[in-house]
Amino acid sequence: MNFYIMTLFPEMVLSGLKTSILARGMDNGYIHVEAYNIRDYADNKHNKVDDYTYGGGAGMLMQAQPIYSCYQDIMKNIKEKDPDASVRVVYVTPQGSVFNQNMVREFSQSDNIIFLCGHYEGIDERVLEEIVTDYVSIGDYVLTGGELPAMVMIDAISRLVPGVLNNEESAQTESFDDGLLEYPQYSRPEVWMDKKVPSVLLSGNHANVDVWRFEKSLERTKERRPELYEKYVETHPDEFTAKSLKKRRKILDRIAEAEEN
Ligand code: ADE
Repeated sequence: MNFYIMTLFPEMVLSGLKTSILARGMDNGYIHVEAYNIRDYADNKHNKVDDYTYGGGAGMLMQAQPIYSCYQDIMKNIKEKDPDASVRVVYVTPQGSVFNQNMVREFSQSDNIIFLCGHYEGIDERVLEEIVTDYVSIGDYVLTGGELPAMVMIDAISRLVPGVLNNEESAQTESFDDGLLEYPQYSRPEVWMDKKVPSVLLSGNHANVDVWRFEKSLERTKERRPELYEKYVETHPDEFTAKSLKKRRKILDRIAEAEEN
């Protein structure tokens, strides 16, 4: 999978992504990340890429021409490698749809994603109309530029590219895969600051461990993300029949009893 970032700060994006798991994914050829400096495509001798806004208002706007030339250059490179490859062009902006794990899954199906990172007060609408396929925000707050959001999205999407995570990393039950938050986890020592690891986790009874973890996921989701919890209950009616609830209750009571002894 190939990621291209159109930015005024290529070194920011590259230095952030070339570490840890993503660096390994790049070295092994599963993902390819390239940053293009929009300023290199300015057609004036001062390499100016912004100007005042028509109609007035504070701040400067990024102009259409350098962005479009940069985009054309990237598209040329993509098409040279594979004329049939799929391409999405994502403008990262607080005016976009809010990024979530479903979008991560969908984007991970694309061969190429070009991210357009804005700065100043925004970008001339005409170039956006011409090239952008998706408008995406990473949350309801405003950052100084699109570089961090692009990095967030590249990280989340790369995790789903086959080969990027090793078996151990991908086998983990992760929050959001099934619509619930992840259960709490513990490592050595067994007692830390007078806090004991729940004894069910030391019992070796895997069926009980599964029931306990599922219950903790439910509790945590209900408390921290009630809207996700409601959705889960609606979409998994089998887990909440009187029979299922009774069966789980019985096992949880036994676990709680063992915990006290
Ligand atoms: N640019 C500035 N703020 C942003 C946000 N919250 N999401 C995406 N792009 C942005």
